[in-house]
Amino acid sequence: MTMFIRTAATVLLLAGAYPALAADLARGQRLYNLHCASCHGITGIPIMPETPNLSMREGMSQPDVVIMQSLKMGKKNKPPFFGRLNDQELLDVIQYTRTLR
Ligand code: HEC
Repeated sequence: MTMFIRTAATVLLLAGAYPALAADLARGQRLYNLHCASCHGITGIPIMPETPNLSMREGMSQPDVVIMQSLKMGKKNKPPFFGRLNDQELLDVIQYTRTLR
């Protein structure tokens, strides 16, 4: 029990110390439904052809920063999100896509 409290306190402490690193999944979901679901589907099962199935984690094995860069630049028929979503918003949306099943 003491161990649990100590761990919980550490986690809270770290979350407080690095607010910018904590992803906001609710905001990620809102942004995903708005900007990504039209091709990738609400649940990550794609609607458009040649789009990776995010519910099967296709293309998701890359680190966040790599996916973030790819989203900023755009890819094939995907528009660039640079100037439309900032880094924190991109991180939120990437973390949200990692929860899709
Ligand atoms: C216009 C359709 C379209 C939209 C909108 C779109 N995507 Fe994609 N996405 C694609 C396609 C097509 C690919 C595959 C690109 C390839 O094969 O090179 C892809 C690939 C990906 C990948 C795999 C990694 C990569 O970079 O190839 C991820 C992750 C991803 N998209 C996430 C997102 C997120 C998050 C959003 C919203 C912010 C989004 N996509 C919006 C069509 C779209």
